[in-house]
Amino acid sequence: MDSYKSVKEFADRASNLPRLDAILANAGILTTTYSVTEDNEKTITTNVVSTFLLSLLLLPKLCQSSEQFSIVPRIVIPNSALHYIAPLKELDINGEDILARLNDQEKADMASRYPVSKLLVIYVVRELADRLKASKRPLVIINTPNPSYCKSQLMHGPGQSTGFGIKVAEKILARSTEAGSRTLVHGLLSGRESHGQYMTNCHVQA
Ligand SMILES: NC(=O)c1ccc[n+]([C@@H]2O[C@H](COP(=O)([O-])OP(=O)(O)OC[C@H]3O[C@@H](n4cnc5c(N)ncnc54)[C@H](OP(=O)(O)O)[C@@H]3O)[C@@H](O)[C@H]2O)c1
Repeated sequence: MDSYKSVKEFADRASNLPRLDAILANAGILTTTYSVTEDNEKTITTNVVSTFLLSLLLLPKLCQSSEQFSIVPRIVIPNSALHYIAPLKELDINGEDILARLNDQEKADMASRYPVSKLLVIYVVRELADRLKASKRPLVIINTPNPSYCKSQLMHGPGQSTGFGIKVAEKILARSTEAGSRTLVHGLLSGRESHGQYMTNCHVQA
């Protein structure tokens, strides 16, 4: 997901499947280290740009499957409650290009980059949901469920603290990834009420 070429190759292969019911675009990173992949800061490339590049490249296949097999396909993108604490000053662009602003290493607040990336996912999911609804294509439901805090490798990547506090918090507060993944499966099975929505604990969260 940090190579557009790789995303396109994967989408080409998936487009040749006989049928595609859903996409769960699960890949995501959390890092406080600034680096660039493709033409954006790596978190933005992975969590946002490639996620939607993949989704849009596979949209025609989802629509074709919908028509051929009379199904309502789904696009599901994991989210995070951390989007609530995304500082809006990161998106206060004052006429600047939003990606250019986020790619500016001098201004980049990497501590908030992951929350910002998940907030951007919500914005794009909402916009895409409206456009899909308004289009003449068969309906493809898109939603963005939050699996909640889970024990996984997410918090243990480069630039992340592996301190005692994190380990204790994980032990006490985090779900197993299996438990968290049920919310993602729920997203895949959710109906029209979930279209364009952020979800928590298997409910649409207002
Ligand atoms: N864990 C949590 O508390 C939590 C909470 C809310 C939301 N989420 C979301 O849940 C999703 C899964 O995260 P996780 O907790 O399972 O984290 P994880 O254990 O770190 O797994 C992340 C997954 O993303 C893949 N990935 C990362 N960068 C990639 C890239 N450039 N190209 C392709 N694949 C890439 C990883 O593949 P490799 O193993 O091959 O590197 C791995 O399968 C993410 O979208 C995350 O934001 C997690």
